[in-house]
Amino acid sequence: MFRRLVPFLLGLLVTVLAFAWLLFVPARYVELEVLLLILILVAAILVYANRRTYYRKLKFMDPDNELMRELEELAPGTYHHSLQIFALALHAARQFTEIDLLDLKLGCFLHDIGKLKRAEYFTENQFADKDKFDDKHLERSREIILSHSKDGIEMAKKYRVPKDIWQFIETHHGTSLTGFYYKLKEQEAALEEENYRYPGPKPKTLAAAILMLADSCEAAARSRQDQDFEQIIGEVLAEKENDGQLEEVSDLTVEKLEKIKESFLEVLNYIYHKRVKRADQNK
Ligand SMILES: [Fe+2]
Ligand SMILES: [Fe+2]
Repeated sequence: MFRRLVPFLLGLLVTVLAFAWLLFVPARYVELEVLLLILILVAAILVYANRRTYYRKLKFMDPDNELMRELEELAPGTYHHSLQIFALALHAARQFTEIDLLDLKLGCFLHDIGKLKRAEYFTENQFADKDKFDDKHLERSREIILSHSKDGIEMAKKYRVPKDIWQFIETHHGTSLTGFYYKLKEQEAALEEENYRYPGPKPKTLAAAILMLADSCEAAARSRQDQDFEQIIGEVLAEKENDGQLEEVSDLTVEKLEKIKESFLEVLNYIYHKRVKRADQNK
């Protein structure tokens, strides 16, 4: 919170000091006064821009905003997936004071907005007979799936999502292989890996890395029936590390990864826990 206010407070301080100078110091040098006026103007613009971005972010936090409602209506599976990774990522991120939680929350909500372009091509939005993933649509599916992070940036520009949030949209898959690749590999051994990798870039911040891991863990936990979440999380994290997806995050340590793992496990257990049956329900 304090970090977010620093530019605002600095701008305010410069403005107040410059006004005080103009009022109380005898005017001898016109050039100096002009310079001070320019300084006031620049500081005022910075304060305004900082506040404007902040209020814009708050607007996107409202679940009833235009973009989230569109996601809920056109891509309901993606919408609920986004809410679940919000819970996972936020619980993990609260342990690290260096993370801006507002940016991360928005990143979770909006990371998959690129799917809005062709929502029905993504498994979480496919219901019963509406599966678009078949041989006739193979090449088209591959292109659409791989381009959803780039499409997300187009959507972010269209809806004027603040630029701080773009990193989550473009890096949430890094240069990982698509799940699609593993599905096809079962039928065709000689697949060219490079054709099935997301375009990147890889995450560069701890917050973006947490979002990437939460995204993959949520998808894996949802698709697997075994519910051994400790194993699922361990496998996902090991795969991302071995594939070099986390190598550009300079402040990600083994201790931090352990903390992230533990908090993901807690949240997945809360989400998927089985309720204890009451005695009368057993009858
Ligand atoms: Fe995605
Ligand atoms: Fe996602």
